Amino acid sequence: TATVALVVAAGKGERLGSDGPKAFVVLGGRPMLRWSLEVLRATVDDVVVALPADTPFAADGVRTVPGGAERSHSVRNALAAAPAQAELVLVHDAARPLLTAAIVADCLAAMEDPSVDAAIAAAAVTDTVKEADRVDGQVRVAGTLDRSRLWAVQTPQVFRRSVLERVLAQPDAVLAAATDDASLVEAAGGTVVLVPSPRTNLKVTTPEDLQLAELLLTAREA
Ligand code: C5P
Repeated sequence: TATVALVVAAGKGERLGSDGPKAFVVLGGRPMLRWSLEVLRATVDDVVVALPADTPFAADGVRTVPGGAERSHSVRNALAAAPAQAELVLVHDAARPLLTAAIVADCLAAMEDPSVDAAIAAAAVTDTVKEADRVDGQVRVAGTLDRSRLWAVQTPQVFRRSVLERVLAQPDAVLAAATDDASLVEAAGGTVVLVPSPRTNLKVTTPEDLQLAELLLTAREA
């Protein structure tokens, strides 16, 4: 089965406080985006990257497209540029530079079951998670979730191409409300399975995440 990876790298990364786009912040001596691209070029057939407008970038064997205003628009633009023969589509955030070949392989392996529409990397939650509401300047607890059933979802998220195309064709208002692509498949009644992945496949959001990612990458190289 032909595979394509769509790497979304068009975010501004405002919470990181960097000058330029987050995907180009230097991490371990290279732009963040390069780390996951290297892994994907070795594990899938083709790679398409959605970039911020006016960002020059070239990498061997990688197609580039302009990203959109919302993350899902970036995914849609990249999917439109995917080779016709690709039947499995892996979506990955450039903000997760600690991707490994093993995580990719595990997600792709989960798609061998024909009843599965999407297979997504996730780590079991270790914190206790509460729901709460802001009331009169307080944050008041409404309840505690059952931790044994909670997973923190990551990327990569792998989809059957036809399924991803169908959910991304929905109106912008539907897409904008989704914080990951798999939730669109869930809402459409599709079968989504979780693939256990290390917590170290973290998303770089804040300056502290960047420091941690740098430490983990350095330890890995050593
Ligand atoms: O903001 P957040 O960290 O959730 O973004 C997740 C990923 O989506 C990042 O890799 C970012 O570059 C990408 N993104 C994008 N286009 C947007 C917004 C975010 O490609 N319009």
